[in-house]
Amino acid sequence: MGIEILGTGSYVPEQKLTNDDFTKFIDTNDEWIRTRTGITERRMAGWEPTWYMGAKASAQALERAGISAEKIDLIISCTATADFHTPSMASVIQRELGAVNAAAFDLNAACSGFVYALDVARRFLQTGDGMEHILVVANESLSRFLDFEDRGSCILFGDGASAAVVTKSDKLYSSHLASDGTGAQYLCARSLQVAPEVKVETDFNDGFTDKPLHKLYQDGKEVYKFATKALPKSFELAAAKIGITKDEIDWFIPHQANIRIIETAAKHLGAPMEKFIVTLDHYGNTSSASIPLALNEGIEKGLIKRGQKLALIGFGAGLTYGGIILEY
Ligand code: UT7
Repeated sequence: MGIEILGTGSYVPEQKLTNDDFTKFIDTNDEWIRTRTGITERRMAGWEPTWYMGAKASAQALERAGISAEKIDLIISCTATADFHTPSMASVIQRELGAVNAAAFDLNAACSGFVYALDVARRFLQTGDGMEHILVVANESLSRFLDFEDRGSCILFGDGASAAVVTKSDKLYSSHLASDGTGAQYLCARSLQVAPEVKVETDFNDGFTDKPLHKLYQDGKEVYKFATKALPKSFELAAAKIGITKDEIDWFIPHQANIRIIETAAKHLGAPMEKFIVTLDHYGNTSSASIPLALNEGIEKGLIKRGQKLALIGFGAGLTYGGIILEY
């Protein structure tokens, strides 16, 4: 059993941070950022909470799906940058939408979040216990967790949200979700709620960075190595389950981390770059929101058409990875 994507929607904050803007406070330049990452600018949430962006994207997805909020049975919000430890972003989005009949929870699989959440949604629909419409919303405010003194990481990320309303269908579908926790320490942001009397670096060595609490830390080289392998592997594992080849895929929609990662993966897969939807030049890496932002943009631009086969491929902190192949 597959899913039907009834409607998608996106929301990004208005404020832009260009590569040149970074030169005012760190030692960098536009040329380095563009050639090493493919990123030109990214959006920054100022006053807008994560849930606010998620609610805006969700409202657009509902409108395009032609579904009223009361018809939503479940809201899954994927985020690694929630506004609260509790309640969930999904519950706050439910309040904003008036989705009074929905169950609601958050899912954190970092940049693989949307792929994980969409697959979880499909499994909920599959049980046949009455759920008909599920809202999957990815919302992220990376800017609140960035270390703006770390030039190797702060230039990569941006904020935004994107959502999809899905229902069950008998369309083509395959997925494979995976994780390699041995690399968990390579990409992390420690919770603010560490007991104040514990000095992380001396009292309790958990193998993670002792960087300032709550700021994002990344070992770029390790994550890069992982990402270039995880991207093709995720596709191949999902494709093998249904015996589909890369030539039958109309659009690859990968997590938007670095254009060099996408180009390397395209080469490995033997698929032309023209089949890859790329939005990282204008949004940067928006973690779990990056795949649905690219999906929605492809639909809005008329590139992605009904009946086409899509490969959504996520990878990120955890280190999580996963792929979904589906018919749009
Ligand atoms: O969504 C999660 C997934 N995340 C990712 O996929 C990120 C994966 N990693 C990457 O994309 C890349 O590793 C980075 C873009 C983070 C870094 O690119 P790199 O080609 O691996 O650069 P590097 O770390 O090897 O640094 C090369 C040089 C260094 O200088 P020295 O030591 O050679 O003098 C860095 O200090 O570039 C320097 N550098 C910069 N220079 C100007 C690092 N960041 C910058 C910067 N501007 N922003």
